[in-house]
Amino acid sequence: MDLSGSVCLVTGASSGIGAQTARLLAAEGATVAGLARRTAPMEALGLHSVHAADLSDPADALRAAGEVLERHGRVDVLVNNAGVRIDGPVSGVSLEDLDQSFQVNALSPFMLAGLLVPAMAERGSGVVANVVAPKVSGGRRGMGAYAASKAALESLTQTLRQEAGGKGVAVFAFDPGWVRTYLAPDGPEDPAAAAERLVGHLRAGKGAREILS
Ligand SMILES: NC(=O)c1ccc[n+]([C@@H]2O[C@H](COP(=O)([O-])OP(=O)(O)OC[C@H]3O[C@@H](n4cnc5c(N)ncnc54)[C@H](OP(=O)(O)O)[C@@H]3O)[C@@H](O)[C@H]2O)c1
Repeated sequence: MDLSGSVCLVTGASSGIGAQTARLLAAEGATVAGLARRTAPMEALGLHSVHAADLSDPADALRAAGEVLERHGRVDVLVNNAGVRIDGPVSGVSLEDLDQSFQVNALSPFMLAGLLVPAMAERGSGVVANVVAPKVSGGRRGMGAYAASKAALESLTQTLRQEAGGKGVAVFAFDPGWVRTYLAPDGPEDPAAAAERLVGHLRAGKGAREILS
């Protein structure tokens, strides 16, 4: 995908990997719309548009995506990056925490793809990247809500690839590794390095079956 001139929607562009990805995409000449709850950090990045939305409410995600379409006319690249990690043993996770985990990590990405991918397929061009956590999604002690919701995101990726992959839409899952962010403060890697790899995959625009890292 020629990123220059493309319209990219990056969720979770207010910090960490998403902020760096949005910054790099803008530097490539893409029109970048950022979506998160906090707008000030996205404004500081100089993105083309910033959209306040709470992804723990998929209806709000769809409303904000509608704003993006109204503003830019289309979305060529969807980066489902926003994520929330709520730790605790299965016995200690409240229904509210579980609900938030699934809404942010799986249901809003699902609904955003459902809204945006059909037009990509019609144009015969587009890329969807879902930011996953395969080291955890198979199940991890003390991280049940995060793990299960990220497993759902991997499943969505496979389904989307089957539905849209043959229509010129590249769909892939991206494993950033272990990256130093609010979500993983002990991570050894700089978020800019992970974002560079992600943007490289977006540029290549290939929907390989494997999770890209
Ligand atoms: N860091 C790692 O080692 C690692 C490893 C594997 C996967 N990942 C994945 O990488 C992605 C990016 O995370 P990060 O490490 O860069 O962490 P981060 O700095 O905490 O970024 C998380 C982003 O998600 C947004 N977000 C969270 N809840 C939201 C909500 N309810 N509505 C809208 N936006 C919301 C946050 O924005 P607001 O707070 O402004 O809403 C923020 O921009 C996540 O999907 C994470 O699961 C990270």
